[in-house]
Amino acid sequence: MNKFLSISLLSANFGQLNHEVELINKSAADWIHLDVMDGVFVPNISFGIPVIEAIGAAAKKPLDAHLMIVNPEHYLETFASLGINWLTVHYEACTHLHRTLQKIQSLGMKPGVALNPHTPVNSVIDVLTVADMVLVMSVNPGFGGQQFIEHSYRRISELKELLIRENASALIQVDGGVNAHNAPALYAAGADVLVAGNAVFSATQPLEAITQTKK
Ligand code: DX5
Ligand code: ZN
Repeated sequence: MNKFLSISLLSANFGQLNHEVELINKSAADWIHLDVMDGVFVPNISFGIPVIEAIGAAAKKPLDAHLMIVNPEHYLETFASLGINWLTVHYEACTHLHRTLQKIQSLGMKPGVALNPHTPVNSVIDVLTVADMVLVMSVNPGFGGQQFIEHSYRRISELKELLIRENASALIQVDGGVNAHNAPALYAAGADVLVAGNAVFSATQPLEAITQTKK
């Protein structure tokens, strides 16, 4: 059972971003999760290329970008040039999802596909050969610090069964409302990678919150 942890900077203090990235660098976390939002696919705008360049210059862990944008296919080369390691696009935002995931792979990044809480997990059955990760959203995308959606456990189990049935090697990532209390059950349900943001940056001891969540 994998127990990777990716820390979302969305809830970080952007007035001291270097410090926040350094904190993740020295923590037990595995990846840095970048929530890119365009104000169209989701009702929020987060950050773009210049900020990601600054994060990439300070980061000592793999960059895991989660694109909550329409037309992500317009920006694949840009994200590759920024040194992104995992690039996840939303199922609901891609008319030609199979082609987009293939293109991400051809650019040297690991492709992921994200599912909103209403999208059935078996929707990804025909892209499992070109996806290295499936992101199960456990909140409605757009904001950090939201309440975990409880039916996500069933979705993770369903996805795990689908991956086994299809002999697929994609990782299962769970994103939204994750903390040290629900992390053990999420890993046990089949999650390989958890994303945590608010639970870390709102903690009095963020390093300890990361260690506890990964435990
Ligand atoms: C929400 C983002 C998540 C979010 C996670 O749209 O995709 O990555 O920032 O943050 P928390 O852990 O605060 O729910
Ligand atoms: Zn995310």
